[in-house]
Amino acid sequence: MASRLGSLLLILFAVGVQVQLVLVAGAGWQEFLQLPTESAADGGGVVVGTKWALLIAGSRYYYNYRHQADVCHAYQVMKKGGLRDENIVVFMYDDIAYSGENPWPGVIINQPNGTNVYAGVPKDYTGADVNVNNVLAALRGDGSAIIGGSGKVISSGPYDHVFVYYSDHGGYGVLGMPDDELLFAYDLVETLKRKHAARGYSSLTFYVEACESGSIFEGLLPTDIGVYAVTAANATESSWATYWDPELGTFLGDLFSVAWMEETDSRDRCAETLEQQYELVRDRTSVNGTYVFGSHVMQYGDMGISNEQVCQFMGRDPVVSRSRAVKQRDAELVCLWHRYRRSAEGTPQKAEARARLQQVMSRRSLVDSSVELIGGLLFGGEGPAGRVLGAVRAAGQPLVDDWDCLKSVVRAYERHCGPLERYGMKHMRAFANICNAGVGDEAVAKAAAQACAASRSESF
Ligand SMILES: *[C@@H]1O[C@H](CO)[C@@H](O)[C@H](O)[C@H]1NC(C)=O
Ligand SMILES: *[C@@H]1O[C@H](CO)[C@@H](O)[C@H](O)[C@H]1NC(C)=O
Ligand SMILES: *[C@@H]1O[C@H](CO)[C@@H](O)[C@H](O)[C@H]1NC(C)=O
Repeated sequence: MASRLGSLLLILFAVGVQVQLVLVAGAGWQEFLQLPTESAADGGGVVVGTKWALLIAGSRYYYNYRHQADVCHAYQVMKKGGLRDENIVVFMYDDIAYSGENPWPGVIINQPNGTNVYAGVPKDYTGADVNVNNVLAALRGDGSAIIGGSGKVISSGPYDHVFVYYSDHGGYGVLGMPDDELLFAYDLVETLKRKHAARGYSSLTFYVEACESGSIFEGLLPTDIGVYAVTAANATESSWATYWDPELGTFLGDLFSVAWMEETDSRDRCAETLEQQYELVRDRTSVNGTYVFGSHVMQYGDMGISNEQVCQFMGRDPVVSRSRAVKQRDAELVCLWHRYRRSAEGTPQKAEARARLQQVMSRRSLVDSSVELIGGLLFGGEGPAGRVLGAVRAAGQPLVDDWDCLKSVVRAYERHCGPLERYGMKHMRAFANICNAGVGDEAVAKAAAQACAASRSESF
């Protein structure tokens, strides 16, 4: 069994941290397989699809500092979520960081005393390359239509999730570009329709910060092309700048934009849906619905997508996630994974972290498959073993009637298959069901001996 496991494809689907283990060459880790603590109902499952982000600042000039600051921050949000630079396309004029008016050359912040969000931002399209033609071509994924820039486009496929964010001035039915050419809502929505028809995404979420931004989608965006849009303002009102900084002499951000990004920065993105994010951002952008200042944050398009988790589009920030809502059983894997990821390429530390991760995951797979095998041996003749093992008793009933049976069954298992340890405790229900089905510890011991015979010498 160990050799079978050796070739088992392992994936760290730790807790919905869709960490794709592009770990090792060789040994069969290339594929993604769900970790057993996740069920499909948890949003688990085989990980398919890539996350893409298209980030566009439509303005130039120091007095519009905030739009490029928003976009730089958005890049940091995506980056922290694990998206790779090759899947993030950034449009920004790039005249702020080194503007003569910026007292801190090379630094852009998006909140008072904030961190430098300019660091590391890819300069895919800057200056005159930020234009309507290139933005729409990048969104379509049409590299041949691009003129200038890095040539990077959203070459997403039918299983991919795409996030688009735009920040600048707008007007009724239009979004601005630095060269003052207008991006018309109609062309934008047609581009989305074409991308959908070409199976260019599984779902696409589009956040827009601009005045009258509701007018970009109102009455235009179909509800059946897999696009969900959130706008800073409704179709007839202004959106709001925020964080006036007297030292920098400019606004640092826009109200809607800093709201969604600060929410995203501070929460476990896999424990929150886009709908929940919308509600928080809506309340913040309207001062809890008072509209003392602020605007009406709006939703358009396919509302089903709003039930998807934020991390589906923005990835998951492991630091926030780990401290907040990692399932207990997965916390160890997440830590190991980060140790692996943090250590430098080619060092003994990296090799050791990888070996440890591999070992823990093999052990977990072994525990899971042995329990499954035992179920098959015990119940194989009577329908799917999984149904017996996974059965849940009606509320109000104890887990098991005969607790002594449970204890001796666990002992019998451990004798042949090694200690359950913390991870293996997830199988206690299976053992309880074995007892509830009237199977004694002797039969379990026999099945366990058979199930774990091959692996015993090697794995524990
Ligand atoms: C920013 O930092 C300065 C000095 O470091 C401090 O005086 C000021 O109160 C801070 N502002 C905010 C909004 O935290
Ligand atoms: C849009 O915003 C304006 C100005 O705040 C407000 O008067 C109007 O009721 C809003 N309309 C909708 C549909 O939210
Ligand atoms: C809105 O209400 C919440 C909870 O009552 C409060 O914590 C928050 O500060 C309020 N937000 C604004 C912008 O007033």
